[in-house]
Amino acid sequence: MVEVFDITIQEAMPDKPKCEVRIMEMGVGTGLLGLELKKKGYTNLDALHVSHKMLDEAKKKGVYTKLICSNLTEKRTPGIEDGEYNALILSGVVALVYIKPLAFHEMMRVVSNGGIICFDVLTKDIPDFRPAMIELEKQGLWTLIKEEQVPHYSIEDSALPKSTPVFAFKVNHKE
Ligand SMILES: C[S@@+](CC[C@H](N)C(=O)[O-])C[C@H]1O[C@@H](n2cnc3c(N)ncnc32)[C@H](O)[C@@H]1O
Repeated sequence: MVEVFDITIQEAMPDKPKCEVRIMEMGVGTGLLGLELKKKGYTNLDALHVSHKMLDEAKKKGVYTKLICSNLTEKRTPGIEDGEYNALILSGVVALVYIKPLAFHEMMRVVSNGGIICFDVLTKDIPDFRPAMIELEKQGLWTLIKEEQVPHYSIEDSALPKSTPVFAFKVNHKE
C-alpha cells in the first residue's frame, strides 16, 4: 500500500520534497504504516485514532507529530482544518464495521485541492463502498488515479483474502 501511495504522491506532486508532504493517517492503530512511510522519506505525519490506548502505542513509534483522538464519520472532525493535508492515508479502516461511505466527504474535506487520498477497502465490502466512490467521481469531487490489488498486510489471518484492493484518488475541490 505504501508503494502505491509513494508512486501516486511522486506523480501528483513531483516538485514537493517528501518531507514536506503533510500527511494525515486515520485509524492509525499501533502506527505500523507510519514506520513504513518514514522509511520512504515521509516524515510530516499526523495521526487520528478512535482510542487513546492505540494512539499511545502509535506515539511510541516516534513518527507522528500531532495525534488526534477522534473517530472518522460523516461529521466534521474536531481539530482538523479544511484542506489541512496534502494527503490522507488509511489502512484497514474502510470497512462497513468501521465507517459508512458518507465518511468519504469528511476524508475529502481535510485534504487540499489536488491532494491525494489512499486507502484499501475490505474486499467483501467493496459492493457497499464502490457506488459512493463512483458517484463522487461523477460529481467531479475526486478522480481515481490508481486501483491495485496488493498483498494483504495480515496474511497470517487465513480468514482474510490474500490481497486487498488499494485506491488512490486525487481530490478536486470546486471553487
Ligand atoms: C484493521 S485496524 C488497522 C489499524 C492500522 N491502520 C493498521 O493498518 O495496522 C482498524 C483500526 O481502525 C480503528 N477505527 C475503527 N473505526 C474508526 C473510525 N471511524 N475512526 C478512526 N479509527 C477507527 C479501529 O479501532 C482499529 O484499530
